[in-house]
Amino acid sequence: MDMLKYKSLVEEGDLVIVYLDIRHMYPLTVKRDEVFQSKYGALKHNDIIGSKFGSCVSCTKGWVYVLFPTPELWTITLPHRTQILYAADISLIIVQLDLKPGSIVCEAGTGSGSLSHALIRAIAPDGFLHTFEFHEKRAEVAQEEFKSHGLSHLVKVERRDVCSDGFGIKRVADAVFLDLPNPWEAVPHAATAIKESGGRICSFSPCIEQVQRTCLAMQVSGFRDIVTVECLQRTLEVKKITQTIISFDKYDRVKLTPEANQKEKVEEEVEESNQEKPMKDGETVTHWTALPPLQSAGHTGYLTYASFLNFSESQ
Ligand SMILES: C[S@@+](CC[C@H](N)C(=O)[O-])C[C@H]1O[C@@H](n2cnc3c(N)ncnc32)[C@H](O)[C@@H]1O
Repeated sequence: MDMLKYKSLVEEGDLVIVYLDIRHMYPLTVKRDEVFQSKYGALKHNDIIGSKFGSCVSCTKGWVYVLFPTPELWTITLPHRTQILYAADISLIIVQLDLKPGSIVCEAGTGSGSLSHALIRAIAPDGFLHTFEFHEKRAEVAQEEFKSHGLSHLVKVERRDVCSDGFGIKRVADAVFLDLPNPWEAVPHAATAIKESGGRICSFSPCIEQVQRTCLAMQVSGFRDIVTVECLQRTLEVKKITQTIISFDKYDRVKLTPEANQKEKVEEEVEESNQEKPMKDGETVTHWTALPPLQSAGHTGYLTYASFLNFSESQ
């Protein structure tokens, strides 16, 4: 299947995302006569074939949605072989690397290919991703996944240690992205890979000590405008809550001048006249509100990005 070309109907061999609810989604390659088991019972692959992407398909104890596999859905359902990057960081990386159709990008390491899928979509249809991974099995699996998602013409996975051996390409990349334990060792090689006319770099690291070393390496290698940010995503929960009205009238008030007293009285009257129904002390009111959750995902990592200016000028 071609992950970058949305189509209407599911065909045999397609990858679909089976959506049970917002927390339970599974990637599934549709194969005739096979059955997928979920908490809603058995889902026959034959019932998915020919159905519309986005539609409901019946199981023995309920129904599920079958969704088209976008890079975003792939990120939250892919089989993990490493830690991966998620949508909040990915979106900032794509903006900060200034990626667009036609961009040439170097990425290390490939890991589970979460970021790679989003990079490929951003640079399609005529860009190219050179992605590097020194772990043999991970490199192999990533290449197979790109092939089965119809992305092979936009990406090449190379098994290589970019810290010791560099990227093996000179002056071709518009942007370089690093998600490595020791990115500072790859930074000088990144400067070599970037185009003569200049380009962007971005490095993801969980620890501030890694960031410090990476920033220094960037400065020494000729990168400028070095910025480090942390991107935290906060979800608001929409809930109905009941609150008790507290009137502060009964508490001692600060002594005000007669003029200020008069002004406050007028303001209170205006406020009261604006209310549909004045609430009394101790009364309860129920309304919808948006609350930050008590617990939410915290630190993932720091993103450090910078520009590499015209190569000859930065020497
Ligand atoms: C955290 S994972 C990358 C995850 C990836 N960004 C994603 O979203 O799926 C880091 C990967 O870098 C690889 N790696 C570490 N050092 C490397 C090096 N010097 N050269 C190439 N790959 C390296 C590791 O094998 C690992 O798979």
